[in-house]
Amino acid sequence: MSRLFHRGQILHFLGDPSQGAEESYEYFPDGGLLIDDGKVIAVDHASVLLSSLPRNTEIREHPSALLVPGFIDTHIHYPQMDIIGAHGEQLLEWLDKYVFPTEAQFGDFAHAQAVAKRFLAELLRNGTTTALVFGTVHPESVDAFFGEAEALNLRMIAGKVMMDRNAPEFLRDTAASSYTQSKALIERWHGKGRLRYAVTPRFAPTSTPEQLKAAGRLLREHPGVYLHTHMSENLNEIAWVEELFPHLDHYLHSYDDAGLLGRRSVFAHCVHLSEAEWQRMAETQSNIAFCPTSNLFLGSGLFPLAKAESCGVHAGLGTDIGAGTSFSLLETMDEAYKVQQLQGHSLTPFKSFYLATLGGARALDLEAQLGNFLPGKEADFLVLDLAATPLLKQRMAHCENLFETLFVLSTLGDDRCIRETWIMGDCKYQRDTAADCTMQ
Ligand code: GUN
Ligand code: ZN
Repeated sequence: MSRLFHRGQILHFLGDPSQGAEESYEYFPDGGLLIDDGKVIAVDHASVLLSSLPRNTEIREHPSALLVPGFIDTHIHYPQMDIIGAHGEQLLEWLDKYVFPTEAQFGDFAHAQAVAKRFLAELLRNGTTTALVFGTVHPESVDAFFGEAEALNLRMIAGKVMMDRNAPEFLRDTAASSYTQSKALIERWHGKGRLRYAVTPRFAPTSTPEQLKAAGRLLREHPGVYLHTHMSENLNEIAWVEELFPHLDHYLHSYDDAGLLGRRSVFAHCVHLSEAEWQRMAETQSNIAFCPTSNLFLGSGLFPLAKAESCGVHAGLGTDIGAGTSFSLLETMDEAYKVQQLQGHSLTPFKSFYLATLGGARALDLEAQLGNFLPGKEADFLVLDLAATPLLKQRMAHCENLFETLFVLSTLGDDRCIRETWIMGDCKYQRDTAADCTMQ
């Protein structure tokens, strides 16, 4: 049975709430979502759709739940899942002490595959249906990851790290080998099913200008692939980039020089951009992954979301596991709110849920496929349990409108709220059985 009618409360976004909250979303208190062959056919009030439901349509009721599009994580490292919560360091020391030793293991395909399996299970448990993912320097890490993502029919974007300096010998490639290996991976995986490739220089300090140029060449030779890196996360990192590229005006220039900016380019963090960098991000339609749990955990700083908005730069939410401290985009929304509070801004829950869905899809240039329930979109969606815990249930009873319901969900919610995760119309995670619930 591929045609299913899901009935429950439904919310999705049509635009950015910053440009008018009321018109930015559709909410159906008793809604229906009709799905056929993995795609959305229609979303509306249940009563409207029920009157003309095609014969042989199975109906699923979702009581005390809210259906939303799958969450999109715009920046995460799968090889770092086993070092979440590593104590005591800021970025550069944390990389040396914890990240590089753990990433060294991913030349072993069997190890990479085992971690990728656990990682994807954890994403689904947290309602994340699409992510932009760092591998390690080893091509095996990407083969393993894409193999597991393909088996689950997930829309995932990933790439091999390019890193030819300022890293341990055992994790270094060269400008030439990183080009050849990335090219082979692009040919093997980019556009295979729902998978896409991201050219992935780790960050400017660990790539020579020659390697950044090789990244630019890969982008030019393979239109449609992504660029994924880090930028301006930490003040010591920025000072280091100034030393390494003394002839350039600013950090962004190191990437711009190599032709790495554009609408399929995603820069994680961007906590400390200069005015010139903001302008150039906007001009080139480059995107930012805002990673609040990571920025707080590493003491990196407070991301100025309002500045991104005013410059018209697309931002999505990222967990940045393993510097980030939660896989849950609900918990990430909670921290995003606090980061904005500390800057005198009140992030609305509409904006938070937008960022985790349509905003993320826009930041990844996937709006044509994902992000909301418009007809033809891929049917990746979540059934959020509004009474997942005694406290949540009690608190929800005091919510008087959708704004409050969403805000409480983002404040108290976590993986326990993910009752079901559906991928292309198939249920791939069901909390209460903690097992796959394949529909065929
Ligand atoms: N900058 C360069 N590499 C990394 C990484 O692995 N994590 C984070 N948070 N920042 C980085
Ligand atoms: Zn990162």
